[in-house]
Amino acid sequence: MLQVRDVALSYGGVRALDGVSLDVPARQITTVVGSNGAGKSSLMKAIAGLERPSAGTITLEGESLLGLTPSEIVARGLALVPEGRELFARMSVLENLMVGATLVRSAAARRSSMERVLALFPVLAQKLGAMAGSMSGGEQQMLAFGRALMAEPRVLLLDEPSIGLAPIIEEQLMASIREVSQHLGMAVLLVEQNAMLALESSHQAYVLELGRVVRQGPSPDLVNDPAIIASYLGG
Ligand SMILES: Nc1ncnc2c1ncn2[C@@H]1O[C@H](COP(=O)(O)OP(=O)(O)OP(=O)(O)O)[C@@H](O)[C@H]1O
Ligand SMILES: [Mg+2]
Repeated sequence: MLQVRDVALSYGGVRALDGVSLDVPARQITTVVGSNGAGKSSLMKAIAGLERPSAGTITLEGESLLGLTPSEIVARGLALVPEGRELFARMSVLENLMVGATLVRSAAARRSSMERVLALFPVLAQKLGAMAGSMSGGEQQMLAFGRALMAEPRVLLLDEPSIGLAPIIEEQLMASIREVSQHLGMAVLLVEQNAMLALESSHQAYVLELGRVVRQGPSPDLVNDPAIIASYLGG
């Protein structure tokens, strides 16, 4: 579905991505784990069109995304839940959700997306009129997730969705991510510092260090790899 090949990205003299390649298949969860500064968010931003790579290719179902604006990329079917959520704190839950549907042309399609999102996150249905900034951390993450789903993406990128959440909320969020990948057939690219959570919930994984992929494979293999356990799983 989504294919990234040899992507490089620098900020001035700082090289954040140094030849990164990965594949994100439909109906599967692909995860990227790595420490602070490894380049995880840079990779997500490059894919979503928020940063411009200096080399490499990024294709969605064989068509290049390079050079498209972020909203053109959303229109092609790729949505990002950014690190830190970036909700409109002073707008209501409903208004935040509608922002996600800006590019969905038909009112009927917007309604059906809304129904789907509210069925997935009933807590949002109860708080449609509340200001986004008044919601708990877990609710805000669900809102950010729901806003991305309103665009009806085929590929969903999530940048550290579990950060700051209690373990039980993390588990609920992961269950929602599994649900969209399995039942809606979405390709999910999940970036996590919580490597155990991400590896247990995903099909395949990539380990990013200093802008390079240093390991990749089926997630169950990486969970049992002594080097991964020592570096990322607190073993
Ligand atoms: N806007 C920017 N300007 C300059 N350097 C940046 C910028 N954004 C990121 N960097 C640098 O690029 C490198 C990769 O950063 P990135 O945010 O992609 O890492 P990350 O893996 O997402 O880290 P974290 O886990 O802390 O979110 C780091 O060295 C960082 O300091
Ligand atoms: Mg980051």
